[in-house]
Amino acid sequence: MKYNIAVVGAGYVGLVTGACLAELGNKVFCIDNNSDKIKMLKALKIPIYEPGLERLVIKNVKRNKLFFTTNIGEGIKEATIVFIAVGTPPKENGEADVSAIENVSKIIAQHMTSYKLIVGKSTVPVETGKWIDRTIKLNLKKDVEFDVASNPEFLREGSAISDFFNPDRIVLGVSSKRALDLLLDLYKPIKAPKLITDIASSELIKHASNSFLALKISYINAIARICELSGADISQVADGIGMDKRIGRAFLDAGIGFGGFCFPKDLDAFIKISENLGYDFKLLKVVREINEKQKELFFSKIKSSLWNINSKIIGVLGLSFKPETDDLRFAPSLSIIEMLKKEGACIKAYDPKAMEKAKSLIKDITFCKNAYEVAKECECLLIITEWSEFKNLDFKRLKKLMKRRLIIDGRNILDKERLNNLGFEYIGIGR
Ligand code: UDX
Repeated sequence: MKYNIAVVGAGYVGLVTGACLAELGNKVFCIDNNSDKIKMLKALKIPIYEPGLERLVIKNVKRNKLFFTTNIGEGIKEATIVFIAVGTPPKENGEADVSAIENVSKIIAQHMTSYKLIVGKSTVPVETGKWIDRTIKLNLKKDVEFDVASNPEFLREGSAISDFFNPDRIVLGVSSKRALDLLLDLYKPIKAPKLITDIASSELIKHASNSFLALKISYINAIARICELSGADISQVADGIGMDKRIGRAFLDAGIGFGGFCFPKDLDAFIKISENLGYDFKLLKVVREINEKQKELFFSKIKSSLWNINSKIIGVLGLSFKPETDDLRFAPSLSIIEMLKKEGACIKAYDPKAMEKAKSLIKDITFCKNAYEVAKECECLLIITEWSEFKNLDFKRLKKLMKRRLIIDGRNILDKERLNNLGFEYIGIGR
């Protein structure tokens, strides 16, 4: 069956979820209190770069399956299922700020005139579902039935659409058969295992998954240190570890550390959630520490190969926190550029998609049209994001442009031997 759906919060998760549910034939209202964003979306302009999203939004708006509004009352009027996908940004102490969830729950309750299933999509502290339920009960204007459920989203930026349609699993945290039947029916077109849990477990699965992936990255980055100290090669070691099916090769790429709006924030939030519950999650504190250290180690590689950094021209390739996105939130590039600026470097930078956002965020650096313009007169090129176009650069051309042929590869995407043969000095991570 197709449903009338409301998605409250048109951020990364909300917008992708809304567009994909509309693509499945449901009628979806995406609601956001940011009127500029809604105006943009109504004009079919997408506020983020995500492959395939623009096409999906335009198609479904045109066939009257996808609507945008700032008005929660209007948006939820016809909806049977209401997804809450508002932001849960970090507070100063690392805790997730869930005030938007409380606020939205109140407003939803005040506008409810018929049964609704309210589904938590945002990444939230365990027990949020319980609070949504209480808040709705306290604010209902009419005596209507409702259910609360949790259905965390696991999509990755850069492959969000394909992750939505081909997930490893769909987690459904429910407390009633009615809620379960609705969600199972909604997700029927998606062929993926459906894991049915209670609400608290579902909420916990999301934080526990993200923290485990962060742990895998910090683990391999720590092994990369051991490789550097012992002369081993991290790529070979990661392949060897990853061939064990119990471990798996994914998320064992050593580099400059993880960034983005999920891992760093969710890790902090999970440490805080555990603390509030009475458990000191020391393991995750170390995961965070290793990640921070990774950026410092990268910087020390630059320093030890250039000696003085002051006034030297340094080229930065890649600004977004990972490829196929223009997202700069918690991007390692920002920390590295900050450290370089403090030492007086002249920085030139290029990113295939994040230039516009970067220009409004990073001051006093030179933005270039492409990697070759960055390379001109450079004493050192830094690879910060593993965009595929950086893997296929014309290195013979680069060689002629650079003042010193030094490449420091923060993502291990280049072939050390090939570059050495071409006359480059090459420094990677853990190799
Ligand atoms: C992540 C989770 O993967 C996703 O399930 C969740 O819904 C949101 O958070 P995302 O932040 O989009 O998704 O990016 P992801 O591809 O997971 O990468 C996160 C960071 O880890 C990036 O900075 C990336 O460069 C880094 N990373 C990833 C590594 O350093 N090494 C790896 O092997 C993998």
